[in-house]
Amino acid sequence: MGFNPLYIAMRIRALPATPTRPSFARTCVTFSLLNMTAIRISSAAGAYDVHFSRGAIRRLPSFLARLGDSSGVYILSSPRVWRHRGAHVTKNIRGWHSNRAILFDDAESMKRLATVEQIARKLIRAGADRDAILVALGGGVVGDVAGFVAATYLRGVRLVHVPTTLVAQVDSSIGGKTGVDLPEGKNLLGAFYPPKLVIADPDVLRTLPQREYRSGLYEVIKYGVIADRELFAYLVRHMPALLRRDPRALAWVIPRCVRIKARVVEKDERDGGSRQILNFGHTLGHALETATNYRRFLHGEAVAVGMCGATLLALVSERISVEEAAGIIYLVQSVGTVPAVPELSRVQLRKLLSSDKKSRKGSVRWVLPRQIGKCEWGVELPWTLVAKVARALPVMMTEENYGIIGMRRGRK
Ligand code: GLY
Repeated sequence: MGFNPLYIAMRIRALPATPTRPSFARTCVTFSLLNMTAIRISSAAGAYDVHFSRGAIRRLPSFLARLGDSSGVYILSSPRVWRHRGAHVTKNIRGWHSNRAILFDDAESMKRLATVEQIARKLIRAGADRDAILVALGGGVVGDVAGFVAATYLRGVRLVHVPTTLVAQVDSSIGGKTGVDLPEGKNLLGAFYPPKLVIADPDVLRTLPQREYRSGLYEVIKYGVIADRELFAYLVRHMPALLRRDPRALAWVIPRCVRIKARVVEKDERDGGSRQILNFGHTLGHALETATNYRRFLHGEAVAVGMCGATLLALVSERISVEEAAGIIYLVQSVGTVPAVPELSRVQLRKLLSSDKKSRKGSVRWVLPRQIGKCEWGVELPWTLVAKVARALPVMMTEENYGIIGMRRGRK
């Protein structure tokens, strides 16, 4: 498949970006009447429920009681989340003692083995045994690290996720992926370790910093692109409401994303094949995070750039129409701006992408959209094409160029 040098400069705001009309109103009423959603996810280690409802976090002790006896509940969290939520979750936990709260910095740069060791040593000193329950209270980093601790501490103790960020509620708390980064790349050390329970309370999203909240919206868009045209259409229409954190919009979107994730991980729990579609935008995204030492981008922001890059790759390899590609890029850009995208040399890019977990023998496997709601995974592409797209991104992702997708004809 050759690369046809392509010049596209179009105002995508003018395009009809809504492919279908969502049946939003009806579904939304259903959720507000029930005020509670439980989504069951099966896994090789046993099924678990994702409970979604406003105020659920305050009912944590009664959810924990359903897991049977324990020798103690230990909460792994970050200082910031603990300040906001600690009192809510620990009220009424039987035998609660403050030495059972283990706090650690949840910056991506702290998602490393040294943090796992520190937590495990604190657990030992606090007396946690094999019948303990670990509760991961926080965002993606807290969940990944706490999950890895739970998977390995005394060869495995029960884990409950209480995700407090949007990305953790729709993605990282579900599916059992746990782990830490290495200097060579993201999530290179870890284990599949499903939780016993996930408690997702949309009210906790109210106190999230706006940048972090927006970062989660990119992962929500990911689900629309890879698997759900109706969700995508809903997002096009309701992005302003979602940016305001409108509870009705969140009550529609979050369980919808959880259901998609449930479907995907049930089919391919160990990530040997089709689960890779969840990696849409992550191949370039992880490379950008690694290239900037995990300090410039929030994870979702890097994924946002990665999704635009993957969409451009699908476009220039003639997999997706210009209209659909433009619709995806427009929706991503409608969430807001992202930090400056670094220019990566071809050598740097190759090194970064080859250490991606999904690479095989140095060859990168891409997830590319075919149309909104459908994607292809395991795609190999020529490096020249990838390098060209990587060169276009720093320009395309600056605010003054929002609404334009393009690469100049003949750029070498
Ligand atoms: N977040 C990607 C996955 O769970 O596979």
